Amino acid sequence: MKKRIFSGVQPSGDLTLGNYLGALRNWAKLQDEYDAIYSIVDLHAITVKQDSKQLHHRTLQNLAMYIASGVDPKKNTFFIQSHVKEHSELSWILTCNSYMGELSRMTQYKDKSQRHGDSIPAGLFIYPVLMAADILLYQADLVPVGDDQSQHVELTRDLAIRFNNAYGETFTIPKTYTSPFGARIYDLQTPTKLMSKSAEAQAGIIFLLDDEKVIRRKIARSVTDNVGLIQYNDEQPGVKNLLNIIALIRDKTTAQVVQELEGKGYKALKDEATDAALSVILPLQKRIYELLADPAELAGIYTSGAERARDIAATTLDDVKQKIGFVL
Ligand code: TYM
Repeated sequence: MKKRIFSGVQPSGDLTLGNYLGALRNWAKLQDEYDAIYSIVDLHAITVKQDSKQLHHRTLQNLAMYIASGVDPKKNTFFIQSHVKEHSELSWILTCNSYMGELSRMTQYKDKSQRHGDSIPAGLFIYPVLMAADILLYQADLVPVGDDQSQHVELTRDLAIRFNNAYGETFTIPKTYTSPFGARIYDLQTPTKLMSKSAEAQAGIIFLLDDEKVIRRKIARSVTDNVGLIQYNDEQPGVKNLLNIIALIRDKTTAQVVQELEGKGYKALKDEATDAALSVILPLQKRIYELLADPAELAGIYTSGAERARDIAATTLDDVKQKIGFVL
């Protein structure tokens, strides 16, 4: 039997080069070896305020992006999270088995809650538990995510172990799968901050649907330093980030990229990063627009995906309910 993978992306903003390199691209590489289930996690997106029309549109657009990134709907299961109600149910059960202390240690919660002053949505606090429910419902062995989500997968493991210890073997204990480079793509203007689709300032973010001209400009204006040498180290975060982008896209090590650019200036580095980024983004855009032009095909994919997902999720949830003592 193939090992099972589960992962998801929030339709909370337009997808970025970070999402592509940290997640989508790896998904395509794993599809022959694993039984993979991918969700557009709309229940997660509403932890912060969303415009209804945009949420609707982005949910479909995300699905198109998964497919355009080379994740084949014939080999993988795709579904929209709110189509499978078991996610909300298991999330509540796990919430009752989670501690305030462990949830308040989540760095993403600490970052995101700062933007909300005194009115922090409770969903933002509980959100990692919903993510745990997503993963555990499908008995996933591996969770391919960017490095920023590893802490949430660790929490998922803790919750699964806690439940198994209390009620007997119920959940598979999942592992994080990150790319060998530990992919974390940073903002081009603030290269110490994650490139995030929900960030306010957009000059440092490459959106997958940005115009070619805009992408060229954003990379040309990316922040470097005044050391003037192309080296891979933490003291030069802007240069390091561009090297990571090139290495990931070109399937090379960062040492190889540094060697190829040796003796050249930052303009050459930025030109190479631009070429690399455009080499994946332009074909992706073409495919996304083709897919979005055929809503019936997309609907077929997410409807049959939800049916399969529901079957697996319901089996796990029934087992959980029975073990807790609910009358079935
Ligand atoms: P989200 O929607 O923020 O991001 C989706 C995926 O993209 C990765 N990613 C990045 N990787 C590298 N560099 C970046 N700058 C970057 N930005 C984003 C993320 O690590 C992620 O893999 N909670 C999750 C969604 C989720 C989920 C799940 C994931 C919900 N349930 C269950 C896995 C399994 C999130 O907010 O990802």
